[in-house]
Amino acid sequence: MNIFQMTGLSGAGKTTIAQNVKAKLIEKGYAIEILDGDVFRKNICPDLGFSKKDRNENIRRMAFVANLLAQNKVIVIISAINPYNEIRQELTKIYQAKTIFVECDIQTLQKRDTKGLYKRAFLPKNHPESIHNLTGINDTFEVPISPDLVVNTASESIEESTSKVVDFILKN
Ligand code: ADX
Repeated sequence: MNIFQMTGLSGAGKTTIAQNVKAKLIEKGYAIEILDGDVFRKNICPDLGFSKKDRNENIRRMAFVANLLAQNKVIVIISAINPYNEIRQELTKIYQAKTIFVECDIQTLQKRDTKGLYKRAFLPKNHPESIHNLTGINDTFEVPISPDLVVNTASESIEESTSKVVDFILKN
């Protein structure tokens, strides 16, 4: 099967790597699609929040669509935080999805803070912009138990991580 599930904290580089990988594989003539957490939440999962149940349901819906594409020989990258082992293992069991851990330490993420979410997670609880369940800060991120590939965007360049993922996908 052709389904690759990324997992990693917000801002770790999942989207950037997925987009770069997509461009490289299209160049080589492959059909590839990215299913992105933010895009799904906006269009297909607007009913879902960030509880464990909702996050897992979000991933379950992405996997359902991924499977339809994969059956038609499309390589699919599921790009979402995907923080729980249980659902990641479910995807592996049902769809033989391979797990790619996009790792980055919290200090680096806080420095990058591309979406301003980490700053908001440290605001006082009663502040109107405070976030109380940001993955990695005040909500769970289960480090994947035995990921098929790990890239670390704090220590590797985006080009290095991208080519590791491209090589991995082409080997699978
Ligand atoms: S997942 O946990 O269900 O896999 P998903 O990747 O779809 O998450 O969505 C994460 C995106 O939602 C983040 O990139 C961010 O833009 C937004 N977001 C808003 N609130 C939170 C939160 N509390 N925790 C994580 N992401 C959040």
